Amino acid sequence: MLKRKRQSNTQLVVAGRQVDIADQIQDFLELRQLYNAAMRKVKTKVEILGEEFQVRYNHNPIHHIECRLKTPQSIIEKLNRKGYELSLESIRKNIMDIAGIRVICNYIDDIYTIADLLLKQDDVALVRKRDYIANPKENGYRSLHLVVVTPVFLSDRKEHVPVEVQIRTIAMDCWASLEHNLIYKSSRPLPDNIKEQLKECADAVNAIDMKIRDIYRQLWQL
Ligand code: GTP
Ligand code: MG
Repeated sequence: MLKRKRQSNTQLVVAGRQVDIADQIQDFLELRQLYNAAMRKVKTKVEILGEEFQVRYNHNPIHHIECRLKTPQSIIEKLNRKGYELSLESIRKNIMDIAGIRVICNYIDDIYTIADLLLKQDDVALVRKRDYIANPKENGYRSLHLVVVTPVFLSDRKEHVPVEVQIRTIAMDCWASLEHNLIYKSSRPLPDNIKEQLKECADAVNAIDMKIRDIYRQLWQL
C-alpha cells in the first residue's frame, strides 16, 4: 500500500494545541475527494434515470443538473453560524450539504418521479426530506430537498457519504436564482414591501408551474 508523503516543519500551536498543519490540509483534501465522489455518483444516477426516460418514453424529465462542493470558507461560516466545533469530525457529523446537486426538471410531476426513483435504489438511503413545494417557505421559496447517503468504495474502506439533492422546476429555479441574486447584493435587512413583492413573484411563478402541469397532463395523460 502507498504511504502518505510527510512534510517536515509543519507543526503549529493553535489555541494551545499542537497541530500538524500539513496533516490537517491532507485530511481535508481527502474528505473533499470523498464528497466529490459521492456527488458524482448521485449525479450519474439521476442522469441515467433521465436518459432511460428519454429512450423509453421520449420524455426526459430533467432539464439540467448543477453540482457544487461547499467551499472551505462556506463550511467554516456554517459551523460558526450553527455553533458547531471547528474540526473535520464536526464537519462530517454536522454539515449535510458539502456535496450538493441541483436537479432542474421541466414539470412539477417530474420532481416527484425523480425523487421516488432515486430513493428506491439499493445504495441510496434517505436521511432528511424537506418538501418546500407542499410547504413553501414564508418568502415563497419552493423546491424538494433530500439529503441522501450513498456508499463510496475506496482502496481500503467503504464510506457512507451524505449528498444534498435539491429538485425543482425551471420556474422555481428562475425565482430562486433571482431572489438569491437580489438578496445577496443587498447587505441591508429587507423592507416588508420588498419581501411582499418577492413573494408575489414566487406565487406568479407557481401559477405558471400549475398551468404548465395542467397542459402537460392534458397532452400526455389523456
Ligand atoms: P443552510 O444552512 O442554508 O444550508 O440551510 P438548511 O441546512 O436549514 O437547509 P434548507 O434545506 O432549508 O436549505 C438549504 C439550501 O436551499 C440553501 O443553501 C439554498 O441553496 C436553498 N434555499 C433555501 N431557502 C432558500 C431561499 O429562501 N431562497 C433561495 N434562493 N434559496 C434557498
Ligand atoms: Mg446549504
